[in-house]
Amino acid sequence: MALTQVKSDSNSLMRPQPPAPVGVFDSGIGGLSILRALRAELPNERFIYLSDSAHAPYGERGDAFVNDRCFAITQQLREQHGIKALVIACNTATAAAIHNLRTAHPDLPLIGIEPAVKPAVALSQTRHIGVMATRGTADSTKFQTLLSHLQAQSQEPIRFTVQACDGLAAAIESQNATKIRALLADYTSAMGRFGNQKNDMDTLVLGCTHYALAIAPLRSLVGNAVQVVDNGPAVARQTRRLLASTHQLASCSAQHDEAGQTNAGTLQLLATGDSMALVNAAAHWL
Ligand code: DGL
Repeated sequence: MALTQVKSDSNSLMRPQPPAPVGVFDSGIGGLSILRALRAELPNERFIYLSDSAHAPYGERGDAFVNDRCFAITQQLREQHGIKALVIACNTATAAAIHNLRTAHPDLPLIGIEPAVKPAVALSQTRHIGVMATRGTADSTKFQTLLSHLQAQSQEPIRFTVQACDGLAAAIESQNATKIRALLADYTSAMGRFGNQKNDMDTLVLGCTHYALAIAPLRSLVGNAVQVVDNGPAVARQTRRLLASTHQLASCSAQHDEAGQTNAGTLQLLATGDSMALVNAAAHWL
């Protein structure tokens, strides 16, 4: 893995090199859980990851703020880095802005992320699914519509217990282990009983990319019988499909710069604010 650059000043960035990279962004480090799956699925691609750490967290800020950040980041990644596609590795940002971004950037392949409730319905035996998400995602029309559709389509009754987890993404961003554990304990106990008995939640959807980075303490609270659904691999496959359909998939042979050095699989990290959390998390998770 090559971590080519971390910058807290987003105005003085490297000139793009051919072939163009795939942009990935989140409010902070959470999207690394998606980036990991992307790099496994697409080893020949160059990636540029932007953590909007100067404006994190997004989850309790409201749609207008998040929408504005998404527009600013998309413009920056297009103009300064010439990205060929953009993965919004953030459920909150997808719910708030993907529709508007698609309208404003019809020529840019855009991949969003939403809580993996659809695969969870296929997996659950007890028909009771827990969803942990930010308030922005949990309250969004996009997510509420998704739940209603699934309930309407389902032949057997299905129940969703949705928990808005205020403060949890911020605690994960700052790697405050005591706070992470305390919040996880509060939120999982407020949700009800996890397990594989009748009425238990046997499937848990992580509706915020940050939460995947707290999987160990979460697992110890909900137990091993619970299936935790991670949508990173599905997002990565969707990105591959979209790149292939627009004839933009990188091939190994196309990945050489003027000096004959390979660019395959390189990664550039950017942060709009503090970059330490990103550097540490990338070293740990990638
Ligand atoms: N990681 C993001 C998500 O998936 C946002 C967390 C936050 O900034 O509140 O929703």
